[in-house]
Amino acid sequence: MTEKGDKWILMATAQTPTNIAVIKYWGKRDENLILPVNDSISVTLDPDHLCTTTTVAVSPSFDQDRMWLNGKEISLSGGRYQNCLREIRSRACDVEDKEKGIKIEKKDWEKLHLHIASYNNFPTAAGLASSAAGFACLVFSLAKLMNLKENQSQLSAIARQGSGSACRSLFGGFVKWIMGKEDNGSDSLAVQLVDEEHWNELVIIIAVVSSRQKETSSTSGMRESVQTSLLLQHRAKEIVPKRVVQMEKAIQNRDFPSFAQLTCADSNQFHAVCLDSSPPIFYMNDTSHRIISYVEKWNRSEGSPQVAYTFDAGPNAVLIARNRKVAAQLLQKLLFFFPPNSDTDLNSYVLGDNSILQDAG
Ligand code: DP6
Repeated sequence: MTEKGDKWILMATAQTPTNIAVIKYWGKRDENLILPVNDSISVTLDPDHLCTTTTVAVSPSFDQDRMWLNGKEISLSGGRYQNCLREIRSRACDVEDKEKGIKIEKKDWEKLHLHIASYNNFPTAAGLASSAAGFACLVFSLAKLMNLKENQSQLSAIARQGSGSACRSLFGGFVKWIMGKEDNGSDSLAVQLVDEEHWNELVIIIAVVSSRQKETSSTSGMRESVQTSLLLQHRAKEIVPKRVVQMEKAIQNRDFPSFAQLTCADSNQFHAVCLDSSPPIFYMNDTSHRIISYVEKWNRSEGSPQVAYTFDAGPNAVLIARNRKVAAQLLQKLLFFFPPNSDTDLNSYVLGDNSILQDAG
């Protein structure tokens, strides 16, 4: 290590957007390594909006690893944080900052401590996949600080051990998380299907039905589904493998009708699995259901789908419009039928085109 005593500090910052699954991950075959029961596909959001920014720092004056989330200190003692930190430390390389006269050798990382400060620019744990952006950003910023040589897919396998969906946030565009076959999880990682330019006319609108913390976390919800839902077994073995192939084709061909049909069907099946669990899990509420009916009716009246909907482990609607014109119409309709600050508590955000058109919160 450098001879400059313990006065120095070295930092790295990264920003990572969240992602929304269009073919859902729901169910683990290994809880500790976070290995899924099926492949999943997602779209990564525009980094200007729903994202996490993380700064990591190392200094010989730090006497323990510490982390702050949105300014509040949180514990790093959980297995998920410990797994990520251990995996990253074991791959850390020599780092030299000649300007500052700092040299850290590979072996030094085992005894140096880290301080981590992370900010989400959206509500934490409201079904907006905050853990996805959070763990992806943690792994990416630490990889930068510690000069890891691994590529994005290899880093995704580390982020996966923080939160499954996080592995998909290491890439932009459309991303597939390959479930893998190995028991040690070495082949359970994310790959980019197409980059963010490939289908850039899509506009993603997130209708925040409620920003309250969800009652059943994804982690415990999917555990209950794995233990009790027969539909989950059928979905993982019979339905998703075929759907993933069809979805990849729809994305490659920018075939919106097929994309919308698969996205909506997969969201509905995921929530059917939740209902099929014992006790049943309810993530959507009346407003969510009304949004689904509304979009279905609109798509039917147009003769072909204009908007796809998908819901994660919460009541918020993610609406994907086929282009900006449809997005503008959709936003107008949403504001008319679901006025902000009414009892529906609906705020609408438009993403994917570098502007928030409406934040009625
Ligand atoms: C419904 O990745 O949050 O958003 O791996 O236990 O941290 P853990 O779960 P998490 O689950 C996400 C579930 C989902 C679907 C998806 O993103 O694929």
